[in-house]
Amino acid sequence: MQPPFVAVEIDAPVATVTLSRPEARNALSPGGIAELMGALGALDEDDRVRAVVLTGGPKVFAAGADIAEMVTRTPADQLAIERGPRWQPLLRFTKPLIAAVNGYALGGGCELAMMCDMIIAGDGARFGQPEVNLGILPGAGGTQRWPRTAGKYVAMEANLTGDLVDAERAYQLGIANRVVPAAETVATAQELARRIAAKPPIAVRLIKEAVNAAYETTLTAGLAGERRSFHLLFATDDQTEGMRAFLDKRPPHFKGM
Ligand code: HXC
Repeated sequence: MQPPFVAVEIDAPVATVTLSRPEARNALSPGGIAELMGALGALDEDDRVRAVVLTGGPKVFAAGADIAEMVTRTPADQLAIERGPRWQPLLRFTKPLIAAVNGYALGGGCELAMMCDMIIAGDGARFGQPEVNLGILPGAGGTQRWPRTAGKYVAMEANLTGDLVDAERAYQLGIANRVVPAAETVATAQELARRIAAKPPIAVRLIKEAVNAAYETTLTAGLAGERRSFHLLFATDDQTEGMRAFLDKRPPHFKGM
């Protein structure tokens, strides 16, 4: 039996998920992806957890799909692997999810980071889509999320050359929220997660949904959705508490109701 690929540590209200296959640069096998999705699904259900950090540890985030497992794969094998929810627990994850990226985030590893809500990059982080060098193209969003974040021309270059961008460039392109010394990447992401975890959770959930909707819909539909969520939040105790606390000049105590 394979050792676990994913280690989960809960320090409520923040959970940290660490990919743990550094000897293969955290290469993502189908089993490893399933394990990661299972862990995220469980954390979404866990009421103690309000925000999650995803990291590959101090040296590497993830070097992409497992090339050794892919080399002899047929299209039928690929289809068989892709039945079922695959990335859905991540794509439908309702809580803030922050990638803490040290070292390489390549191919599926870069796509995994980009599926998260925010990215904290260590100063040695490198992002890229080298799939073209393997005779394939990105298979988990690289051709779609790069243009939506960094624009068409940057996305074309990254995907067509496979060249990597370093942490500073990723920050300039809007791929990374901030660049920090590598030793502080995970702690910085955890601190950010902890700050967001202290916010009213229903508002946090609806904000995440609304921002994600901006990538899926028209401006008119996105604005209408935002407005409905705005109305809905006036049904929460946390709205009354947040506004009362402001007026009373005291810190709010949010209950998630
Ligand atoms: C399988 C991998 C791997 C990968 C590294 N290894 N990346 N195994 N799949 N993606 C293994 C190596 O074979 C080697 O095993 C060990 O990890 C260390 O790798 P090195 O190359 O010796 O390490 P280093 O010099 O530090 O270079 C790190 C690296 C390089 C720059 C990340 O390994 C690399 O370029 N990896 C491939 C990156 C890539 O092309 N990714 C795209 C994959 S396709 P041994 O046994 O020799 O020690 C993809 C499609 C996405 O992601 C589809 C959706 C999921």
